[in-house]
Amino acid sequence: MSFRPQPPAPSRPNRCQLFGPGSRPEIFAKMAASAADVINIDLEDSVAPDDKAKARNSVIAATHDVDWGRKTLSVRINGLDTPWWYRDVVELVENGSDRLDLIMIPKVGCAADLYAVDALVTAVERAVGRARPIGFECIIESAAGIAHVEEIAAATPRLQAMSLGAADFAASMGMATTGIGGTQENYYMLREGQKFWADPWHWAQAAIVAACRTHGVLPVDGPFGDFSDDEGFRAQALRSATLGMVGKWAIHPRQVALANAVFTPSDAAVAEAREILAAMEAAKAAGQGAAVYKGRLVDIASIRQAEGIVRQAELIAAG
Ligand code: COA
Ligand code: MG
Repeated sequence: MSFRPQPPAPSRPNRCQLFGPGSRPEIFAKMAASAADVINIDLEDSVAPDDKAKARNSVIAATHDVDWGRKTLSVRINGLDTPWWYRDVVELVENGSDRLDLIMIPKVGCAADLYAVDALVTAVERAVGRARPIGFECIIESAAGIAHVEEIAAATPRLQAMSLGAADFAASMGMATTGIGGTQENYYMLREGQKFWADPWHWAQAAIVAACRTHGVLPVDGPFGDFSDDEGFRAQALRSATLGMVGKWAIHPRQVALANAVFTPSDAAVAEAREILAAMEAAKAAGQGAAVYKGRLVDIASIRQAEGIVRQAELIAAG
């Protein structure tokens, strides 16, 4: 372990991020009434070019008019390769309410992308005298994004979360798939004539988790496109949670409960974590650094694992 302690990620629940197009203001109240921890209103790829300006105005109005409760409110701006992004930032920060928590920056390819948005946001915040600084989240969804993932995670103290965007990522990488996340038909190992499917997203997810954990950012799994496939969503979310991600996007309201279920530690998992902590307390009292719990070794590293589960459960209970 480095002598530097690992910085903690923002202490707020982020089990599900529910997306909706900024061009469909009639669903904003439904999004606010959902059980998602984070609401992402989109100005980017779910909004047609001709609707961009109107959607921007609807989103700004919604930061004032809709009761978002205790949810984290985030708006996805257009990419830095478009003519729309600067106006998204300027108008959101000048005219949006203080209730806006985060700006999500898509298709980030290097740390300087976040530096540029940070510079613009900082100037507008000063000009309007905004009391609470806006946070950032970003999407890793290109070859450049994953190649520079660590410098991106370290780019600005505004950065709170980072998501994997599977569809754009696959396109940028030239992956031979059209699905948005999940199992891919042609990605399998063959043994004795039997196919065993593997996970083509695994490396990108693990790289994102490592970059995020190094720099105190929340790692999040992005969209699962087939919203009629609950079991496929669940399987993808379970893999993401196992790798250290804290939540997953929902692109349809029916995915919210699925994500919340996977990313909320179960009562059994919390009970077991508390038992491990108790076993380690007893070991410590007896002057030992390791103990046996249900026939298996637990040691001081197990305390860190168990504390993570208990902390997550407490955070969610408090929310
Ligand atoms: N958030 C909240 N409510 C939503 C919703 C969303 N994202 N999408 C749909 N609903 C509502 C509908 O208004 C409908 O409400 P009702 O029962 O009161 O009529 C209900 O949920 C069922 O919707 P359904 O008819 O199944 O879906 P749809 O055809 O209206 O919309 C999508 C389907 C996929 C187009 C829509 O969910 C959507 O736009 N998702 C987000 C896309 C996005 O933001 N992409 C960018 C990130 S990848
Ligand atoms: Mg995308």
